[in-house]
Amino acid sequence: MENVVVVNHPLVRHKLTLCRKKETENWQFRDLVEEITALLIYEATKDMETVEIDIVTPVAAAKGDVVKNPNPVFVAVLRAGLGMVSGALRLFPYARAGHIGLYRDHDTHVPVEYYCNLPPNIDELDCFLLEPMLATGGSATYAVDMLKKAGVKKIKLLSLIAAPEGIKRITASHPDLKIYLGALDEKLNENAYIVPGLGDAGDRLFGTA
Ligand code: URA
Repeated sequence: MENVVVVNHPLVRHKLTLCRKKETENWQFRDLVEEITALLIYEATKDMETVEIDIVTPVAAAKGDVVKNPNPVFVAVLRAGLGMVSGALRLFPYARAGHIGLYRDHDTHVPVEYYCNLPPNIDELDCFLLEPMLATGGSATYAVDMLKKAGVKKIKLLSLIAAPEGIKRITASHPDLKIYLGALDEKLNENAYIVPGLGDAGDRLFGTA
């Protein structure tokens, strides 16, 4: 678990609790996911390199720090990952966004790719994979495989909530992956929903329940 960070911040816990409540409206849920994502990004970028520059304030010449590489790429796993993109782009307006669409084959239960759109120079960029619910870990593991095949060297996974089963699966395949979570929940149920979780993140974002 050394590569897993649970962002145990009061605001994350507060906002995640509101997300979990079944009476939370879709529009509130969307706002909360955006805000929690920004807080996860804040934690996940703590190690970013900065460079010192000379600036002039209205009062005096000064030195300041700026992020060395302010244009990472955020890759959303469709569909629920879409809810995290705006929160990430708010903090990094120069970043790119990519999208990976996967479905689970009914017979084999293996993830199958149906959509992949990544920036052409993704192999040069730091990458944050956005997958709100790390349940079985199957889709996220496959998405990391795809990113590595595309040449991405630095990948961090951001999830609102994970189940221990998902963490186990993805860290077995990708022990180098850094994972940032809002919470690590108890388990998966028989339908592969995270318990207690928050239900189907895509349905709650887009009102499709
Ligand atoms: N996907 C979700 O949206 N919710 C879960 O609990 C598990 C997978």
